[in-house]
Amino acid sequence: MEDPRANGEHNHNHNHNHVPKRPKFSSPSSFISDSEIRQEFAHHQPGIARINNGSFGSCPASIIAAQKRWQLRFLQQPDDFFFNHLQKGILRSRSLIQSLINADHIDEISIVDNATTAAAIVLQHIGWAFAEGHFQKGDAVVMLHCAFQAVKKSIQAYVTRAGGSVIVVQLPFPVHSDQEIIAEFRRGLAKGKAHGRKVRLAIIDHITSMPCVIIPVRELVHICREEGVEQVFVDAAHAIGSVHVDVKEIGADFYVSNLHKWFFCPPSVAFLYCRKSPISRDLHHPVVSHEYGNGLAIESAWIGTRDYSSQLVVPEVLDFVNRFEGGIAGIRKRNHDAVVRLGEMLASAWGTHLGSPPEMCPSMAMVGLPSSLRISSDDDAAKLRTHLRDHFGVEVPIHYQALKDGEEIGSTDWDDRIAGYARISHQVYNTVDDFLKLRDAINQLVKDGVTCNILP
Ligand SMILES: Cc1ncc(COP(=O)(O)O)c(C=O)c1O
Repeated sequence: MEDPRANGEHNHNHNHNHVPKRPKFSSPSSFISDSEIRQEFAHHQPGIARINNGSFGSCPASIIAAQKRWQLRFLQQPDDFFFNHLQKGILRSRSLIQSLINADHIDEISIVDNATTAAAIVLQHIGWAFAEGHFQKGDAVVMLHCAFQAVKKSIQAYVTRAGGSVIVVQLPFPVHSDQEIIAEFRRGLAKGKAHGRKVRLAIIDHITSMPCVIIPVRELVHICREEGVEQVFVDAAHAIGSVHVDVKEIGADFYVSNLHKWFFCPPSVAFLYCRKSPISRDLHHPVVSHEYGNGLAIESAWIGTRDYSSQLVVPEVLDFVNRFEGGIAGIRKRNHDAVVRLGEMLASAWGTHLGSPPEMCPSMAMVGLPSSLRISSDDDAAKLRTHLRDHFGVEVPIHYQALKDGEEIGSTDWDDRIAGYARISHQVYNTVDDFLKLRDAINQLVKDGVTCNILP
């Protein structure tokens, strides 16, 4: 096996002149039309109301075609692709991401498969600090109670097993303001630090998955700095393409976002930003290959023979989003406005409410479900989700929120106790009909007196 970096990174590291600093938008007359949008997503299975972009994202036909071209270039002449094109292509994607998120240095940007891989990179590093005696038994990491399950498992695998402890901060939900989250975070951190425990890492979601809420991440990072938390990792799996991202403004040490969720890349690709520091030099990809020790970005750009095409289409994705009025910022705003408007329509039809105010919704919103459905466990939520898919052709995640005793949640629902929420997503391919289909399916279940305990 030859040196994968031959003709690669070092020859091109300083050649960023080709990267446009400002996106080139289409002129109004050439904005993508509704029928072109339909063509771009014509591969979506017909008849399904797909209001779950949040889970797996979506990829337009023109990007699938671009990906195929990259795959063929490899298959047609692997040596030429490997020695002359792969590293250049990855570097170009990294440069575009660097401008997109306002990072200072290209070497702060690594491209990895997904947020799960990024969590492994950061937490493995924490695990080594325990193993090598830099951290002591009982030193803590802090996370939100609704951190993504895969991230919780990584904490278990890399931190708890190495002797670390975990401080869990409850996310209030339904939630009415950033202040509620900030207060809860301060309380959790203070409790965790009692008895002189050192907090080595905070893991903060930018947008929680379930329930879905935009977290005041900049403020929480600031609190971590004030309170002596050593490192901060922001799990922003949903962020790029659905909220504004400026990594310098946020100020975390590590920040990951998937590009396949809200940025139209094919599965799977994510960027991991690591702020330049002595720590960032000791991060490593969990798959060790030829580039071990040459910095995370270079290590990640060659982790053995595999398909790298999803990492190479970032330029084509930028061309795609710039066919929309306002580019990605325009898409973001329209998705947000639409999901809030449609969420309010659903809440009003069901006599419920949104789980958070509009400004805390990204391109997703949590909509209370009628309590007559009797959602009283995670299992009930899963059964309802399956039922909506199998019987109504509606693809939407359902969240069960345990009620606190005597909780008054201010709903207008008949018995005032909403424990189930639909997490709706809006992406450019959605139409109002998708949401009417969900509205009518739920109304039908209510009319038929269906409760979750009778669902198979
Ligand atoms: C908050 C959060 N973190 C991590 C992930 C994991 O993303 P992936 O499966 O692409 O690694 C997700 C996926 O939905 C998520 O919502």
